[in-house]
Amino acid sequence: MNKNTEKDSAQNIDKILSIALTELSATKTLDSLNEWKVRYLGRKGIVVQLKRSISELPSKERPKFGQAINSASKILEQKLISQHTKVTSSDNKNIRESLDVTLPGVPINSGSLHPITQTIRDICEAFTSMGFEIIEGPEIELDYYNFQMLNIPKHHPARDGFNTLWIDQKDSNGERPMLLRTHTSPMQIRTMETQDPPIRLIVPGKVYRYEATDSSHEWHFSQIEGLAVDKDISFTDLKGTLYEFARKLFGEDVKVRFRCDYFPFVEPGAEMAIDWNSRTKDNDTKEENWIEILGAGMVHPKILKAVGYDTNKYTGFAFGIGVERIAMLKHGIDDIRLFYNNDIRFLGQF
Ligand code: PHE
Repeated sequence: MNKNTEKDSAQNIDKILSIALTELSATKTLDSLNEWKVRYLGRKGIVVQLKRSISELPSKERPKFGQAINSASKILEQKLISQHTKVTSSDNKNIRESLDVTLPGVPINSGSLHPITQTIRDICEAFTSMGFEIIEGPEIELDYYNFQMLNIPKHHPARDGFNTLWIDQKDSNGERPMLLRTHTSPMQIRTMETQDPPIRLIVPGKVYRYEATDSSHEWHFSQIEGLAVDKDISFTDLKGTLYEFARKLFGEDVKVRFRCDYFPFVEPGAEMAIDWNSRTKDNDTKEENWIEILGAGMVHPKILKAVGYDTNKYTGFAFGIGVERIAMLKHGIDDIRLFYNNDIRFLGQF
C-alpha cells in the first residue's frame, strides 16, 4: 500500500513535469512565458503547492517525494532560461524585420546654456579681457555688509529702495542681522577688508528683492558688481572701462550715455544707458531710445576710510550691471519673467 502511494506521487510529478515542459516549449512571447512562470514556479505556483503537500504524506515517503520535486523544479528553471533566450531572440528578429531603416530619424534636441548664464559669461569675458578677476560671495548676507558698510546706516531712506527679504532670526538686541543680499555691492567691502590695492574684480551673482513681479521686475535677478581701486584712478577710467564693455557686448558702433545718479556708496554717482536704436541696423527711426543698464560711480571716500585704506593715496570706481536687462536687450525680450518660467519653448531658442 505504502509502496503504491509512493509510486503514485512520483508518477504524478513526472506527469506534471512533462505537461509543464510541453507548455513551455509552446510559448512564443515574453507575456506567455511569464504566465507559464507564474503558473509553475510562482509564489503560489504548482511547484510550491507540491512542496507544501509533502507534510500530508507519511514520513517515510517524504524524502523521495521531496527529491523528485526538487529535481523537477531544477529542470523547469533551466528550461525556462533556454526558452527565454529563444523567445527574446525571435522577438528581436521580428522587430528587426519590421524596422524601416530608410525612414528619417526623430530629431534630438540638444541642450544649451540658460540665456542668463550665457549673458553672465559674455559680460565676465568682456571684463576679464581688461584684467578684472572674477570672485563670488554669499547670497545670505549681513545687514552690516549689505547696508551699513556701504554708507546706508539703519533708518537711511536709501533702504526703502532695496525692498529687503530678511532672514527671520533675531540677535540679542532683537534685531534681524541677516538678509538675502539686495545687490552684489557687499562684496566690495568683503574684499577691501581683506585685500590691499590694486584691486580689479567683478562679482557675478543672484540678488533678491521683495517686489511684486511684472514684465520688468523679478523678485530675484542677477547682477555683476565691479570694483577697481588703485593709485590715480579717475572718473575717466570708469567711463573708458564701461564704454569698452558696452562695445564688446553690443558692437563697436554702440552709443552710450552717462547721467548723474545717486547711490550712498559712490560720489559722484552715475547711470549708464545705451541707445538701443544705434545698434539695430535695420531701424531707420532717428529717435534715440536710451535704456539704462548699470549704476556706477567713484567709491565714496568714507567707505575707503572705513576699510582702512589711505584716501590720500587711493581712489576707485565701482559699478553694478543688471544682467537680465542686458539679456533682454540683446535678444529683444520684453518680459523678464520669461527667463524663470522654465518653459522649454522659450529657453530652447538660445
Ligand atoms: N548696487 C547698486 C544697485 O543695486 C548698483 C551700483 C553698484 C551702483 C556699484 C553704483 C556702484 O542698485
